[in-house]
Amino acid sequence: MTPLKTAHLSSGKSEIEIFSEPALERICEFVQAAAYSSSIMITSSTLYSLYGSNLAAALSTRLPCRSICVPNGEEAKTLEMANKCWIAMKQGQLDRRSVVISLGGGTVSDLAGFVAGTYMRGIPLLSVPTTLLGMVDAALGGKCGINLQQSKNLIGIFNFPEKILISLDYLASLPDRELRSGLAEVIKYGIICEPKLFEYVENQLAAILEKERTALKEVIYHSCVTKIEITEKDERDLEGIRARLNFGHTLGHALEELTGYSTFVHGEAISIGMCFAARVSLALGFASEKFVQRIENLILRAGLPIRLPKEIDSTKVFELMRGDKKAIKGKIKLILVKELGQAFQQEDVSPTLILEVIDNLKG
Ligand SMILES: NC(=O)c1ccc[n+]([C@@H]2O[C@H](COP(=O)([O-])OP(=O)(O)OC[C@H]3O[C@@H](n4cnc5c(N)ncnc54)[C@H](O)[C@@H]3O)[C@@H](O)[C@H]2O)c1
Repeated sequence: MTPLKTAHLSSGKSEIEIFSEPALERICEFVQAAAYSSSIMITSSTLYSLYGSNLAAALSTRLPCRSICVPNGEEAKTLEMANKCWIAMKQGQLDRRSVVISLGGGTVSDLAGFVAGTYMRGIPLLSVPTTLLGMVDAALGGKCGINLQQSKNLIGIFNFPEKILISLDYLASLPDRELRSGLAEVIKYGIICEPKLFEYVENQLAAILEKERTALKEVIYHSCVTKIEITEKDERDLEGIRARLNFGHTLGHALEELTGYSTFVHGEAISIGMCFAARVSLALGFASEKFVQRIENLILRAGLPIRLPKEIDSTKVFELMRGDKKAIKGKIKLILVKELGQAFQQEDVSPTLILEVIDNLKG
């Protein structure tokens, strides 16, 4: 099969395939052709019973295969879980031609990418995302890592999978809330650099939420292409180009952290973060009220939140934003927008204005 999109990177290439069929045969075919010496599948218990056990059985007829299950959600992204994986890799006598297979959403791919990239200074990684968010974002782009206490993604590396196999079939079992969460990142690409993708989501929202395959394939394909193209231009996030992908994430991450990763799923926190960034853009005269309303309308129609819960402590959100990885000397960097497709980084937004917009965003 011809890869759908290949990312050309300083470390080699990362190939993406998107298909409608179940992934099992394609995964087996790929590991066999690559002649890996052995494998370890990292997944969650939910995904192991849905898909992982069949995959492990099929893989074990081709090469030695171990499986390790980590908890669902952010509890997977801990040093304890990374340690559990490294120990399993050692016990399985994985070598530098062994492959780590990540089967799961963004939390699993963040952890699996991290352990694959650090074990023996890096062994091959095959990523099989099972959430929309994983397919359009987390499994691409090479960023992976774990949380440090409550601090999101503070420990991490860049590690690109050799292959990313995206099967739409997995989305059949994905809960609606998780589908909507992934859609938040698609809407983000539309806002920051792909007006046509934004318009497509506006027009085809019902079909996407109904999981119609043509519509899903369209949004996944265009999101992948967008993320890969941005990543290729700024692989290590040093040029300010990749920073645009953080639109909505400074407040979003702070909110996730403040609520202990239990109130919002990732895309929901990012949705509120995007409304915040759009409202800062409006307050500074960069964006029009009409444009901000258009953004909020789509987010709302997608079943995602646009307002902060009333009980959220604005000062605490602000303090967490100052501790964001992107902040330098406590100065918050924000990605703002002018119009669809026009996003830019702003470093000197006044703390008073930030606090004011946070307060006004409560609903
Ligand atoms: N590395 C990156 O570039 C990047 C980008 C965006 C997000 N992320 C990270 O991704 C994480 C969020 O990922 P996520 O939204 O995929 O959440 P997730 O990995 O927690 O998965 C969400 C839930 O869906 C379940 N699930 C997954 N696939 C399923 C399927 N096919 N059927 C049924 N249930 C399924 C999981 O078991 C889990 O309970 C966050 O930690 C975020 O920081 C990373």
